[in-house]
Amino acid sequence: MNPIIMPAMPAPINDQATVLRELVSDKKERGGLKDRITGMRSIAILSGKGGVGKSNVAVNLALALAEFGLNVAILDADLGLANIDILFGVIPKFNLGHVLRGDKELSEILFKVGERVSIIPGGAGLRELADLDDQRQSWIINRLSFMEDETDILLLDTSAGIHKNVLSFATASDLSMLITTPEPTAIRDSYSVLKSLCQSTNGQINIGLVVNMAADEKEAFMVAERIISAGEQFLNFHMAYLGCVVWDFAIRESVKKRKPLLLDNTESVSAPYFRGLAKKIFEPAHDLQSTSKAVEKDTFFLRLARQTGEKEKR
Ligand SMILES: Nc1ncnc2c1ncn2[C@@H]1O[C@H](COP(=O)(O)OP(=O)(O)OP(=O)(O)O)[C@@H](O)[C@H]1O
Ligand SMILES: [Mg+2]
Repeated sequence: MNPIIMPAMPAPINDQATVLRELVSDKKERGGLKDRITGMRSIAILSGKGGVGKSNVAVNLALALAEFGLNVAILDADLGLANIDILFGVIPKFNLGHVLRGDKELSEILFKVGERVSIIPGGAGLRELADLDDQRQSWIINRLSFMEDETDILLLDTSAGIHKNVLSFATASDLSMLITTPEPTAIRDSYSVLKSLCQSTNGQINIGLVVNMAADEKEAFMVAERIISAGEQFLNFHMAYLGCVVWDFAIRESVKKRKPLLLDNTESVSAPYFRGLAKKIFEPAHDLQSTSKAVEKDTFFLRLARQTGEKEKR
């Protein structure tokens, strides 16, 4: 039996909305996040089921982090259906493949979409990274690593499901942000992703759950409880709950307008939730600073290259 379909105990509803509102309205907090990190932190945004809102979370979380004074890059790592550029209404000409082939510098493919937000179009480049020989790979990694000095947070928007590329992105990142919706299919698929990540890393991974398209915080919390308690019971793994984003018609509208919600409709009902997520990932319990990878000397791209190489050999 799939453990995730077990009935969940009603969970106490925390007063997250009030806390978030207080945090977000506290202007003194803005800019404070930047002081808490040194070096680039990477967050892979994952899901089991497709269409649960990964790309929209990536885009609006990036803008929320930028509001807090952080420099953010979004790596469009959805190898099948890259669409971060569409959500921003821009058409980048070059992608990571051009850097790998030596045609462009990374600085030339970074597409600025805001004062503190850039897109790195992945294109076929991420797949090609694994095929390079060691010498060429380290040459490329050095060229990619320069951006780690100028970027506070790298968000990776991945494709749905747990393909080997997604696994590489997750294991190379400081935090894997698993997105689900309250739909039973999405819940079951997110448990499957949690299981794969736990099994392939032997539990040595930092995963946080986000419930998107929730009717309200109560529903989101109950969904989170089900998945998290199944993880604890059957995988002996604790996944943090990072929060939710409520269902918001304005997100659909912003996609149609090709202008992200936090640029289009800043006062919409879901906007505080993206800002809440931005703050939540820096709370001591999930603090990116405290992860073991953060103290390693390795750069994100070096870890990624190593991971892709290992997955290729399997
Ligand atoms: N909180 C929300 N409220 C209402 N609609 C939403 C919300 N979040 C996302 N959507 C809508 O859901 C659809 C899918 O979102 P998105 O493309 O971000 O999902 P995805 O997980 O990246 O999909 P894929 O797996 O195809 O990459 C979009 O049409 C978007 O407008
Ligand atoms: Mg997407």
